[in-house]
Amino acid sequence: MPPIQIFLDPQSLAHAAAALFQEKAANAIAQRGVFTVALAGGSTPRMTYSLLAAEPYRSHIEWAKIHFFWGDERCVPPDHPDSNYRMALDALLSHIPVVPGQVHRMQGENPDAARAAAAYEIEIRAVFGAVDLPKFDLVLLGLGPDGHTLSLFPGTAALGEHKALVVANWVEKFKTWRITMTARLVNHAACILFQVEGEDKASPLREVLYGAHEPGKYPAQLTRPAKGECYWFIDQRAAALLPALNEP
Ligand code: 6PG
Repeated sequence: MPPIQIFLDPQSLAHAAAALFQEKAANAIAQRGVFTVALAGGSTPRMTYSLLAAEPYRSHIEWAKIHFFWGDERCVPPDHPDSNYRMALDALLSHIPVVPGQVHRMQGENPDAARAAAAYEIEIRAVFGAVDLPKFDLVLLGLGPDGHTLSLFPGTAALGEHKALVVANWVEKFKTWRITMTARLVNHAACILFQVEGEDKASPLREVLYGAHEPGKYPAQLTRPAKGECYWFIDQRAAALLPALNEP
């Protein structure tokens, strides 16, 4: 499958993402009896999650064999409108037969973001066992209009984290802490899928994919999986500034 795919509209992009989720889940469960996925936050993936919660996907995925994680979380309670957990709960998790102990929520409500990040790293390691670097089967990501992904924002400390799996990251422009997986952890995943939609992503997307390597300015450039697959599912609006795929 080509790494960069452009879709006519968000609906066809979401169906392709749901199909990839279903394929990766089936393969992982067939091979190891379990599927580990890190969900993206924001708004773009909501449609994909809603599709997965309905037919034809819902009854063709072995939900009880999936461990759900989040790539990042805002420092808010789980019922807050900004919570990435709440978005996935509303769109997907409340509609499928998940195993409660297999839904691994970041503690956004913890006033000590660093403690919450450390606790999440322990929770990840408890699921993956005694490995130095856990390998997620699938990590879903988005792209912000400033070139961020996860909660790895331009110019923030987490960009330089090369040891931890999960950190608290101060985001000056929002005057808030975030909890985020690090590039080190995400880049070890078997498969990364970016879902990017909207004209406000056209410029950062071009820089991330075809611009100079400036991860401090465009943190999404940090996602360069060592051995895994990395796919970019993009709608036509976000692809508007990309060179035609057949251009030299
Ligand atoms: C978050 C996400 C973030 C998101 C991008 C794109 O917590 O907001 O993790 O990285 O994926 O900001 O967001 P949209 O999909 O809403 O454009």
